[in-house]
Amino acid sequence: MKKTVLLGVTGCVAAYKACEVVRGLQKAGLRVKVVMTKNATEFINPGQFRALTREPVAVGTFDDAPGDPIHHISLSKEADVVLIAPCTANVLGKIANGIADDLLTTTAMATTAPIVLAPAMNVNMYENEATQHNLMILAERGVRIVDADSGYLACGDVGKGRLAEPADIVKTVLDVLEVKRDMRGKRVVVTAGPTVEPIDAVRYISNPSSGKMGFALAEAAADRGADVVLVTGPVGLDDPEDVEVVRVKTAQEMFNAVDGVFADSDIAVFSAAVSDFRPEQVVDRKLKKGSDDDALTTIKLVENPDILATMGEKKHADQYVIGFAAETENVVENARKKLETKHADMIVGNPVGESKGFGADDNEAVLVTKDGESHLESMSKRALADRIFDAVLS
Ligand code: C5P
Repeated sequence: MKKTVLLGVTGCVAAYKACEVVRGLQKAGLRVKVVMTKNATEFINPGQFRALTREPVAVGTFDDAPGDPIHHISLSKEADVVLIAPCTANVLGKIANGIADDLLTTTAMATTAPIVLAPAMNVNMYENEATQHNLMILAERGVRIVDADSGYLACGDVGKGRLAEPADIVKTVLDVLEVKRDMRGKRVVVTAGPTVEPIDAVRYISNPSSGKMGFALAEAAADRGADVVLVTGPVGLDDPEDVEVVRVKTAQEMFNAVDGVFADSDIAVFSAAVSDFRPEQVVDRKLKKGSDDDALTTIKLVENPDILATMGEKKHADQYVIGFAAETENVVENARKKLETKHADMIVGNPVGESKGFGADDNEAVLVTKDGESHLESMSKRALADRIFDAVLS
């Protein structure tokens, strides 16, 4: 899920620069919601932010919020970070001194999320002892200040007080959120979920893979800036944001979809639980109990293509291929064998059985490469996905 930045815009000439901040945050994969002070609306129209963010823009404490009478509390809880840019001397002073007399300052007081402030004001206001004291109080309280720049100010004065560059403001927010964008420009293919291999018109061979690991991998890569294609068997999960999702049923369909995109990828992760075999014949009607049809008692199976092994064999030197090995015993040993037989650069071995593996939200794993192995404690599939990509990038 995208992280949410609650962007407070205050009444300052630099309010228009908040639009560029919005774009920068969005490009970094964040959701932005805007709260404006009443004075800010004298400089820039809320419609501008509504169009940019495609979210409602809040101004008054007592305005009707969609379905929510206590808007400052819901806003404050929605925020992963509260950013106020530009922040006037007035709003800075109010937040430093615990004054909450409008929607923005009330939300800033109610939030438990980190706060980032980017002050912008006239040089004399900036250098005023009160402002400097307020900045000190806020910094001591853990508020991140994106210091104002020096230069030509809107009022004609020259000095410190100009809003920091939007790119620097965005960078500070990414820092505070610990958002990594280290996979920008990388093309990633992920397989996920089970495959289903039809027996007759209504029955099939499959397995209980939930697809959660593959979806977590696709989401992690996309959040970190990669272009991601997720090829998934039938699962009950929604498409992750900013990911191209190809939904398939059989192993052969999964193979074809992967084969079409693999050559252009930098990293391919094969986390699908692919059926190794499929019925040789698919009966095009429903097999009936009581008939003397041979197909009723005997299913001849033929082997499916091994997607990972085939792509592993085809890969060129600067592609990185990762396979999974769900094992009930000898996890490392079996993972190491697969590293060779499948021509992979990494095998993620994970113990399955009891409540582990299939369908669970957490996963325990060992990352096996030709250089060694690293054991990871049990963690969420999303956290594991990030650890896998950390290892690939390093
Ligand atoms: O050989 P085994 O099925 O245990 O290997 C598991 C790994 O191989 C996983 O990464 C899985 O996605 C991949 N695989 C595949 N195509 C198959 C079988 C397995 O890509 N037909």
